[in-house]
Amino acid sequence: MNFSLSEDLQLMQRTIRDFAEQEIVPIAPELDRTHVYPFDTLKKMGELGLFGVMTPENYGGTGLGTLAFSVFLEEIAAADAAHATIMSVTSGLPQKLLLDYGTEEQKKSYVPKLATGEWIGAFCLSETHCGSDAAAMTTKAEKVPEGYKLNGTKAWVTSGSKAQLYLVLTKTDVNAGAAGVSCFVIEKGTEGMSFGKPEEKLGQHASTTTTITFEDCIIPETALVGQEGKGFSMAMASLDAGRIGIATVAIGISRAALEAATAYADERQAFGKSIRNFQGVGFKLADMATRIEASRLLTYKAAALYDEGKNVTKEASMAKLFASETSAFVTHQALQIFGGYGYVKDYPVERYFRDARITEIYEGTSEVQRLVISRELYKS
Ligand code: CAA
Repeated sequence: MNFSLSEDLQLMQRTIRDFAEQEIVPIAPELDRTHVYPFDTLKKMGELGLFGVMTPENYGGTGLGTLAFSVFLEEIAAADAAHATIMSVTSGLPQKLLLDYGTEEQKKSYVPKLATGEWIGAFCLSETHCGSDAAAMTTKAEKVPEGYKLNGTKAWVTSGSKAQLYLVLTKTDVNAGAAGVSCFVIEKGTEGMSFGKPEEKLGQHASTTTTITFEDCIIPETALVGQEGKGFSMAMASLDAGRIGIATVAIGISRAALEAATAYADERQAFGKSIRNFQGVGFKLADMATRIEASRLLTYKAAALYDEGKNVTKEASMAKLFASETSAFVTHQALQIFGGYGYVKDYPVERYFRDARITEIYEGTSEVQRLVISRELYKS
C-alpha cells in the first residue's frame, strides 16, 4: 500500500499546521492551567472545515475522507491534545452514527451543524459502573405515549455540558444484554437532562469531561437512531472509525514530544558536547522516531482501508493500541531526556506526558483493543 500523500493533501496539511502553530500552540499551556473549554479556537477550526473532513459534501462536510482526517488531526494534536480529542469525537462518533443509521430528517437536521462546527457533538456509552463491559449499561429508555422516557447516568462524556448534541446508548430491553441497547439523539436543554461537574483529570484539561444524568427525560419517538436493539452493534462499528481518530491524537502528542526532545538534546550541553551525541540519548530518539513512524503507518493503513469501505475492526484496534502505547513510551522518554526540566512546566513535555496517558484508556482500553484483535484473528 502506498502512503505518499497527494500534493493537494500536503498543501492542506501545511495550512492546518500553520493554523495550529499560530492559533493553538500559544494558548495550550494556559488552557491546561485554567481548564477552559476552547470555544473560540473550535469555532475557527469549524470555519476551516476540520469537523466535516469525513462528512459528505451534501451534509455540510468536505468529504475528503478518513486518511485526510488523520493527516489534519495529527497537526491539531501536535499543538494541543484537548483540541484534538474534541475534534476527533465530534467529527467521528456522533456524525458516523447519524450518517450511517439516522433517518434523512435526522441527518439533515443535525449533521451539517456538526460538520461545520456550529454545534459540538458528544457520544454517551460508558456508565459509572461499566466502561469496557459496555453492554452492562443500566440506563434505560421506556416506551411511553409521548415516545421514550430515559432514566440513568452516562459517564466520561467528552464535551459533556459543552456539546449541543448527544448520541446516547441506552437499554430499551434490560433483559437482552447487547441486543437490548438502542441509540437516541438528544439535544442539550431537553428537560430531565443534567450534567455532573467537570472531572478533574490528569491531562487534556481543556477537553471537558462530565457525567450526564437523565431523570424521567421524555424524548420523541423520532429521537431513535436506527432500529431498537441495534444500538450496541452501531456503537461498536462507529468506534472502529473513532479509534483511528484516537490513534491519531496519540501520534500528534508523540510527534510534539519527539520534536521538543530532539531540539533540547541538540541545545543542551553536558560533558563538553550536545547530549544528542551520547548514545544513551541518541538511541532513545531513534526508538521514539521509529515507533511514531510505525504508529502512523498502522493508522494510515486503517484510515485508507476504511475509505475503501473495508471492515477495519482489527486494523483500527491495532492502530489505536500501538499508537497509544507508543505515546506513553515516547512522552516518558522525552521527559527523561529533559531531566529535571521535563518534570516542571517550563517546557511542554510534562503536559504531553499527562495528555498521552488517556489515549491508552478512552474509546477502549489497551486491554479491550487486545481482546478485539485476538477475537478478529479467529474470524475468517
Ligand atoms: N462492528 C459491528 N458490530 C460489532 C462490532 C463491530 N466492531 N463489535 C461487536 N459487534 C456486535 C457483535 O457482532 C454482536 O452482535 P450480534 O450478537 O448481533 O452478533 C454484538 O455487537 C455484541 O458483541 P460482543 O459479543 O463482542 O460484545 P461484548 O459484550 O463481548 O463486548 C467489547 C465486546 C469489545 C469488550 C466491547 O464491549 C467494547 O468495545 N468495549 C469497550 C467500549 C469502549 O470503547 N468504550 C469507550 C467509550 S467512548 C469514550 O471513551 C468516551 C469519549 O467521549 C471519547
